[in-house]
Amino acid sequence: MLGWDSRAVHAGREDLVALGVHAIPLDMSTTAPLTSVESGGEAYELMATGGVPGPGQSTVYQRLWNPTVARFEAGVSTLEGAAESVAFATGMAALTAVLLAAVAGGKPHVVAVRPLYGGSDHVLATGLLGTTVTFVHPDEVHAALRPDTGLVIAETPANPDLSLLDIRKLVADADGVPVMIDNTFATPVLQRPLESGASLVLHSATKFLGGHGDAMGGVVATDSGWASRLRQVRAVTGGLLTPWPAYLLHRGLATLPVRVRAQQASAHKVAVALANHEAITRVLYPGLAECDPQGLVGTQMSGPGSLLSFEVDTAEHAEAIPSHVSLLTHAVSLGGIDTLIQHPAGLTHRPVAAAAKPHATMLRVSIGLEDPEDILADLVQAVEAVC
Ligand SMILES: Cc1ncc(COP(=O)(O)O)c(C=O)c1O
Repeated sequence: MLGWDSRAVHAGREDLVALGVHAIPLDMSTTAPLTSVESGGEAYELMATGGVPGPGQSTVYQRLWNPTVARFEAGVSTLEGAAESVAFATGMAALTAVLLAAVAGGKPHVVAVRPLYGGSDHVLATGLLGTTVTFVHPDEVHAALRPDTGLVIAETPANPDLSLLDIRKLVADADGVPVMIDNTFATPVLQRPLESGASLVLHSATKFLGGHGDAMGGVVATDSGWASRLRQVRAVTGGLLTPWPAYLLHRGLATLPVRVRAQQASAHKVAVALANHEAITRVLYPGLAECDPQGLVGTQMSGPGSLLSFEVDTAEHAEAIPSHVSLLTHAVSLGGIDTLIQHPAGLTHRPVAAAAKPHATMLRVSIGLEDPEDILADLVQAVEAVC
């Protein structure tokens, strides 16, 4: 069996030598030639109900199938250790498909462990997709289950407080209800939730998988039954990943392990230094012992990752700090080559109910590939300019 770095480089590219090409083929076709109405119609029906086209079968229409997207999906399946993956236009389109599939299966109740990304929290809280939700702490999952519970949803590390939860325990508490883990922050380089019993792994591929801040996408790695249902939802809702971003996201997979490890090494240095700064009241980073009381780094996760949050004395100070950075960029999103800072309560988690909103004194930083000394110096000067 190849090592994980080798798999990241070659996943979804296994047939390129036989094809006589070196880079990933990019097929931008919106439609595909048909040989007859009958064979085209059969292929259409197969894909519209979640199937995949066989060799020689027409792919009919890009909303149903695209080979460049399928390659990216194959790459993600390899890295997450999944039977199949289904890719979408964004992480939110991926979550939408998972929720609609649960509703269509007659189990619209979701048990969701907070905190979650603000957009995920929002779509659940509004019930816009026909779901109902019970928001819980990790130890309340079992008590919240109902006969119509179709999903248990959690993030670990969670956005934005970087809290960790034990996936095996969550799966046991879910008592047979499928568990979906949003693995956007950890990536399969650091954590593979399917190995811990999760049924679905979701990524905002916009973040680490692409890694360069220039392509939106979402992907769900799962078993064949769920994959078929998700493809069916994708075909009818049209929330598909298109070929050009699929190409960019697939290209990102090859450097994912190297980026994740380099960003993580810098994040660790920055987190330790910030924790010793007198103007910073708290640093939230899974690599600090006090942030990982269950010892999940080194067991469930091979490392703490490259996202960190920190708190200062007042909300006014927290809101002012991002305006004082110069090397860093004041922007939402994360997981890219450059360091970003943002205020979760005011931005990414703005729609979250007041009782569950992140502290207004908190800032979240996604550490990039710059020299850690430069990242730290810029952060410290911004903090000292304000506090
Ligand atoms: C943890 C997490 N999940 C899902 C999403 C949604 O992904 P997208 O913005 O690609 O729709 C985000 C976006 O920030 C996120 O941080």
